[in-house]
Amino acid sequence: MAHPELARETERRRTFAIISHPDAGKTTLTEKLLLYGGAIRQAGSVKARKAAHHALSDWMDIEKQRGISVTSSAMQFDFDGYRINILDTPGHQDFSEDTYRTLVAADSAVMLIDCAKGVEAQTVKLFKVCRLRSIPIFTFVNKLDRAGRDPFDLMQELEDVLGIRSCPVSWPIGLNGTDFKGVYHRDTREVELYSGGRHGQTQVEVQRIPLEDPSLCRVIGQSYYDKLMEDIELLDVAGDPFDLDKILSGQLTPMFFGSAISNFGVEPFLKRFLSYTKSPTPRESDQGIIDPESDKFTGFIFKIQANMNPAHRDRLAFMRICSGVFEKGMTVWHSSSGKQIALKQPQQFMAQEHEAVDTAYPGDIIGLFDPGIFRLGDTLCTGAPVRYQGIPLFAPEFFARVSPEDSMKRKQFMKGVDQLSQEGAVQTFKRPGIGREELIVGVVGVLQMEVLEHRLKTEYQVDVIRETLPYKHVRWIESSPRPVDRLRLTSTTVPAVDRAGRDVLMFENEWSIRLALENNEGLTLKETADRETADEMI
Ligand code: G4P
Repeated sequence: MAHPELARETERRRTFAIISHPDAGKTTLTEKLLLYGGAIRQAGSVKARKAAHHALSDWMDIEKQRGISVTSSAMQFDFDGYRINILDTPGHQDFSEDTYRTLVAADSAVMLIDCAKGVEAQTVKLFKVCRLRSIPIFTFVNKLDRAGRDPFDLMQELEDVLGIRSCPVSWPIGLNGTDFKGVYHRDTREVELYSGGRHGQTQVEVQRIPLEDPSLCRVIGQSYYDKLMEDIELLDVAGDPFDLDKILSGQLTPMFFGSAISNFGVEPFLKRFLSYTKSPTPRESDQGIIDPESDKFTGFIFKIQANMNPAHRDRLAFMRICSGVFEKGMTVWHSSSGKQIALKQPQQFMAQEHEAVDTAYPGDIIGLFDPGIFRLGDTLCTGAPVRYQGIPLFAPEFFARVSPEDSMKRKQFMKGVDQLSQEGAVQTFKRPGIGREELIVGVVGVLQMEVLEHRLKTEYQVDVIRETLPYKHVRWIESSPRPVDRLRLTSTTVPAVDRAGRDVLMFENEWSIRLALENNEGLTLKETADRETADEMI
């Protein structure tokens, strides 16, 4: 019989990630969302956590002192009857392949954009990952209290740079910082007035005026009123209509405007976001589609956080629940070992501390203590075995040739690198014909290189020599018109193989990628690859 709470609990779940470039205001927005949900009394704790993460040395110190990772992976809070899980997508120096992998666990994404800067590099990368999965993407244009770009320009930029059309749900009035008047909500046909100020920890009282109200013109001023009426007409006539199906399939992004720091526009955004997005949806497995409200418990591992303290080899594996009810201590089938295991000591993560959890539902994220058995993409389930699609490998952007300082330690070195690449901490490549000695490590974020060095030293007692290579991109060859060594490539482009023996090309710049495609008709390249477990590769 179905669990009595399952349908209700699933319905009210919303699990999403915020994607943005550093400094767009992700920490601030997250804090404000948590503030509305009452999850934290003092806005500021998310910020403190971010600061604590900032430098590698601090981070490692924290890990050492506590003996277990403090890195959280999701924050949970309630609002308006919904239970919200915000997935943590590390940015800044913490940016790594984990950031991409986390997006695989999200049902939707909020794309945060600084109104003065528009679409920035990191946003583009994260957007692409969301696009791969066709998840709904909601755009929040932030920092409206400051001078920013014309909103029509921003809409055009979304289309030109990201290839997605947008549909503004709200619209800003006055965009030059000092004269920001508020936003117009196209759905309720009301203007919400901006009152200014930094509303650190308090929720703001807002004043709303219907568009038809004769006082509006006086309140915002004739010129702003005229401009607003003109903009509305343009949007109505020339803009894309609001189409929820297109939004939910990731083809159209609804656009909102606000100022996270002054709590302006955050609540109206949150309310609409929650009502438009869906609760966890059915997922495809190798045994067919599994409904979240099915009796069968299923989940998958999307992130493994190694413990930096050598005295504690245990790790933390983060699981996204996809269907059924999770209960502490339950026994589940584990895909990569093919065995039954008991899930003990599960944890859930709030803004700052871990909490033990007894029951959890689809959409929730659970941290499991991992004695070293879990692998990225593992499926856990009750009943007959099923597997969800694995977590792909994402193209690294930093490359280095690594070797042990002491050649006598080559065996440990190889063992360590192999373990770390299995965990998904780094990827490894070799160039054919260069000899068995050369090993190239590729990572998405530079911090991963330092983690590699640190862990090889502390866990395997190997000091490494790292020589940075000039490549910036790697692409997996999906199909090629001729053998790889006969492809017409720029002199700086290098063929290599990944850990599973698949052909890749390493490029120094985007231009070389374009040229490779232009000069070799029939060549197709991919930015992601299936994760293979080729244990004896390196
Ligand atoms: P991030 O997590 O995306 O990196 O961004 P974060 O929230 O840390 O914000 C980056 C900077 O932008 C911070 O300023 C923050 O106060 C500011 N900010 C965030 N939202 C808004 C907004 O709506 N309007 C304006 N004007 N600024 C905003 P800082 O100078 O780095 O820190 P602080 O001194 O303000 O704390």
